Amino acid sequence: MCRFVLFVISLVFASTVAPLPGTNKVYRSDYVYNRKADAFYKFHTETLSSTEASSVCQVEGSVLMTPSSHYDIEQLHGMVKQFPDIGDKVWVSSDGEEHESDEEPAIIDLEPRPDRFSSQFDRTCEVVTRHGKIEATYCSRRLPFICKVPARDAPYNSECGVYSTGYIKGQNVSSCYKIPRIAYTWNQAYAECQAQGAHLVVLNSQAESDAVFEIMKNDAKIEGAHFWWFFFAGFRAEVPTDGSPRVFKTIFNETLEEAGYSTWAENEPNNALNNENCGSIFKNDGKLNDVSCTHLYGFICEKEITHK
Ligand SMILES: *[C@@H]1O[C@H](CO)[C@@H](O)[C@H](O)[C@H]1NC(C)=O
Ligand SMILES: *[C@@H]1O[C@H](CO)[C@@H](O)[C@H](O)[C@H]1NC(C)=O
Repeated sequence: MCRFVLFVISLVFASTVAPLPGTNKVYRSDYVYNRKADAFYKFHTETLSSTEASSVCQVEGSVLMTPSSHYDIEQLHGMVKQFPDIGDKVWVSSDGEEHESDEEPAIIDLEPRPDRFSSQFDRTCEVVTRHGKIEATYCSRRLPFICKVPARDAPYNSECGVYSTGYIKGQNVSSCYKIPRIAYTWNQAYAECQAQGAHLVVLNSQAESDAVFEIMKNDAKIEGAHFWWFFFAGFRAEVPTDGSPRVFKTIFNETLEEAGYSTWAENEPNNALNNENCGSIFKNDGKLNDVSCTHLYGFICEKEITHK
């Protein structure tokens, strides 16, 4: 009870303090800043296992939130409140403490029950409920989750101008590139590069193709990728409704010829299974390939170096 009273008092106190000018910090476009916690948060409404959730946070330069203060719980409430039907639990890491609050439970709790077979052998992981209670449940359950990074730890690469670590300057070109350690659909990959302040790679010359080839040729296999011998890139084809041939365009609305690199691999684009409308780059020779947009593949983000 004592802790609850303290929580309410500190809320009242905190809300009377005017925000200090110039203290609003910036991280990736999909993270919100909480000034009191001096940290950035992202609420993922997509449901993943605890392990998958951790690796998504890691790719975003953050970690699965450990509710370590009432600011974290307050942040959680603010975020889940926007989704009253999303269920009662979100994945967290644990600090081993209970955190109380006055939050209402979910209107309807639609979360699936744990799988009967996997749960026999499964470990348990920590969740936080809408009440702010830490509980344990099977790690393989698919739940929403919250990623958090303290402002002091939020990565920014000033040479490349991206909110991420691991960008490499390409040889003989003025761009940086990164291959995030995760497999995503084309749309997810597009959004992830965008959120870092970059974009899915677009090849504008043979020199750039060579530079990207250097970076990807020795890249380790991406865990969870449907195939690992190509990476999603920033071009795709609209599906014509009138039977005309597909035209691949970059994310900047240019044809590949206009962009400056249009060398397809042999027998590509082949539109296998009539379902390959997204672009990729082959790891073994840097040439272009059409692939399914909805399979999970590795991908390459690019950021042009802008000289200030
Ligand atoms: C960059 O240019 C140098 C000098 O022209 C060349 O030796 C090297 O192979 C180039 N690197 C790439 C990746 O094309
Ligand atoms: C894309 O390019 C085409 C052809 O150049 C043009 O007609 C169209 O308006 C452009 N679309 C956007 C969204 O800029």
